[in-house]
Amino acid sequence: MDKLATAAAALDAADELAPLRARFHLPEGVTYLDGNSLGAMPVAAPQHMADAVTRAWGERLIASWMDDGWWQMPVTLGDRLAPVIGAGPGQTVVADGTSVSIFKAVHAGLSLKPERTVIVSERASFPTDLYIVEGLIASSGRKLQLRLAGDAGAGLDAALGDDVAVVLLSHVDYRTGELLDMEAITRKVQAAGAIMVWDLCHSAGVVPMELDAWNVDFAMGCTYKYLNGGPGGQSFFYAARRHHETARQPLTGWWGHAEPFAFETGYEPAHSMRRFLTGSQAILGLKAVECGIAAMEGVSIAAVRTKSLSLTGFFMDCVEELCGGHGLSIVTPRERMRRGSQVAIGFEHGYAVVQAMIENGVVGDFRAPDIMRFGFAPLYLSHADVLRAAQVMRDCLEAQVWTDPRYQVRGEVT
Ligand SMILES: Cc1ncc(COP(=O)(O)O)c(C=O)c1O
Repeated sequence: MDKLATAAAALDAADELAPLRARFHLPEGVTYLDGNSLGAMPVAAPQHMADAVTRAWGERLIASWMDDGWWQMPVTLGDRLAPVIGAGPGQTVVADGTSVSIFKAVHAGLSLKPERTVIVSERASFPTDLYIVEGLIASSGRKLQLRLAGDAGAGLDAALGDDVAVVLLSHVDYRTGELLDMEAITRKVQAAGAIMVWDLCHSAGVVPMELDAWNVDFAMGCTYKYLNGGPGGQSFFYAARRHHETARQPLTGWWGHAEPFAFETGYEPAHSMRRFLTGSQAILGLKAVECGIAAMEGVSIAAVRTKSLSLTGFFMDCVEELCGGHGLSIVTPRERMRRGSQVAIGFEHGYAVVQAMIENGVVGDFRAPDIMRFGFAPLYLSHADVLRAAQVMRDCLEAQVWTDPRYQVRGEVT
């Protein structure tokens, strides 16, 4: 056995999370490094969802809103997820899509700072964050402004001022995998008198965080990545308890009303986390999210983080060892405190290499202009998977797969 294979075997032998792999279905022969985009399916999902369809919907019909806990699901799932993000009960709901939750969170932040007019975000943000802020400004009827700080938190100091109402940042950069210091940045933003909103899409479930202890104002994220809640699964939304009486969100539907079944004419927000809800949720979607949350329950996030760092660190070692000399550049920071759970590699022919790797059973993805992205979900991956991925990448590089027009064809989803 060569050096890397020996190392992989030793790391896997010491992996206390290895048994969790059995909680997920992964197709035969596939090394799945796209859990940062769509997490694997929990093995419990088909039966759990079939039960929701055939028994709860089919047989029990409308009674299931109460008997099966459908009505309370946004709140009960939020509370089950809360320990993963360091939140006490009653401050997290699971509802709506991430983009919608971003709209609500930024608006809620603005409602707490009516005299301020600037929203700060990063140029490198996932585009939906910026698009949503643009739409919010356009529909606000106020003279609001989006101010962009530079990449990865740089320039935040310069962007902060006494006109800034809200700062919206991603905990982990979707492209580079860089991790920001949530506690320090939250403190800095609040010291400048602004409200801090975190997008946790790329960190929830893999990076430990303490939203309560770090005094975060609002946060939201996807459930379909490292939380394995199924394609397009509802987002989670966190609002610190201190904002439950004062913050206003714009989508004031009946689920957020203080007395939804009083069917009053005027809107009065609930005096709890429910004020951040809007309307009926796709229960079948929530049922899938429930499977993802259940698959993580009882798992130590600290242990997940340790394994995540081991997987990403080992991948970088393997890539350096096996793929050197081809002009790749590892974009993700090497420092443990500064990386999430993915490794981004810049390469001019990255798109073709990723397509060829997928054809050879190693699934990663590509982000324009030249980033090959590999996500490492510690609940179901091993160091042997990591080594295999690097070996397949090496084979694709040596074969110069980009010279084959087959691998240049761009799909609608990359
Ligand atoms: C940082 C970030 N924010 C938001 C989203 C997506 O939002 P939505 O669930 O509304 O598609 C993504 C999707 O990958 C993301 O990476």
